[in-house]
Amino acid sequence: MTDKTFKLNTGQNIPALGLGTWQSEPGKVKAAVAHALKSGYKLVDGAYCYANEDEAFAAGVKREDIFVVTKVWATYNTRVELGLDKSLKSLGLDYVDLFLVHWPLLMNPEGNDDKFPKLPDGSRDIIRTHNHVDTWKLMEKLVATGKTRAIGVSNYSKRYLEQLLPEATIVPAVNQIENHPSLPQQEIVDLCKEKGIHIMAYSPLGSTGGPVMQAEPVVKIAEKHGVAPSTVLLSYHIARGNTVLAKSVTPDRIKTNMLLIDLDAEDQKALKDYSDSLTKEGKLQRYVYPPFGIDFGFPDKS
Ligand SMILES: NC(=O)c1ccc[n+]([C@@H]2O[C@H](COP(=O)([O-])OP(=O)(O)OC[C@H]3O[C@@H](n4cnc5c(N)ncnc54)[C@H](OP(=O)(O)O)[C@@H]3O)[C@@H](O)[C@H]2O)c1
Repeated sequence: MTDKTFKLNTGQNIPALGLGTWQSEPGKVKAAVAHALKSGYKLVDGAYCYANEDEAFAAGVKREDIFVVTKVWATYNTRVELGLDKSLKSLGLDYVDLFLVHWPLLMNPEGNDDKFPKLPDGSRDIIRTHNHVDTWKLMEKLVATGKTRAIGVSNYSKRYLEQLLPEATIVPAVNQIENHPSLPQQEIVDLCKEKGIHIMAYSPLGSTGGPVMQAEPVVKIAEKHGVAPSTVLLSYHIARGNTVLAKSVTPDRIKTNMLLIDLDAEDQKALKDYSDSLTKEGKLQRYVYPPFGIDFGFPDKS
């Protein structure tokens, strides 16, 4: 299953499974990435903001065999090329395969911190007059530099995509969003499918500690197939035609997460019914939502 790929609107193949590196402590990332690549992972997902990019690409593999993703952080959304240059320098690479806008907002580039500038009252220092479409216009210019093979977005709601797409010369190749049966974000997935934007699912286990692994239908399907609940949650995305990113710094989990299975129609229905019932009851669970204090247009947060 780790050899499975999907096609991007750029013509590139993107692996179906990737290793996430958020919250992977410096010192552990290097070993985790090396272990993953040696085991057969072909995609590594990083970001300037994760502050561990100097460890996020392991030696010993051929660059062209690996799909490297990074993201411009919100303090660089008016300076995307500088953001990319900084990531490339840390990674020790001369190009990435995919460069994403991490979040559609601008934090003060001249604030009191490179990544998380704050105002004197402790709140985040955000430039609220900034239009996210202007960041995309800068992203489009990067393609000609050869420093990234493709550009895309992350954390884009349907509302934000509908603002972006009429203005875009290049349709984003990817929208990387939180996605699991407790937060299916079907309206975004459907719009992206219609527009040829590939979904990369993040926090597939529910992020830290993997809380979605305990959801009843997930446990039942895992028992039925004799696999771990994590396998069901990762396989869910392959069945939906999406790339999935699983983070682990634990060697046996990194290997376990490569065991993807074909979920049958009954499994897929059970997971959809679970999502539908959470939606109906207003119990959708979003695990990653930094306190920016901005309405990004997600129905569960608007
Ligand atoms: N674009 C964005 O804004 C954004 C936001 C969030 C995440 N992401 C990307 O998506 C990646 C994945 O999301 P995530 O890191 O939030 O969470 P995740 O992959 O859903 O879950 C990671 C957690 O699950 C544990 N875990 C991993 N495999 C397991 C297994 N087989 N059994 C039991 N526990 C397991 C990990 O522990 P150990 O590491 O201790 O093994 C860690 O605590 C990130 O690393 C990042 O690359 C992007």
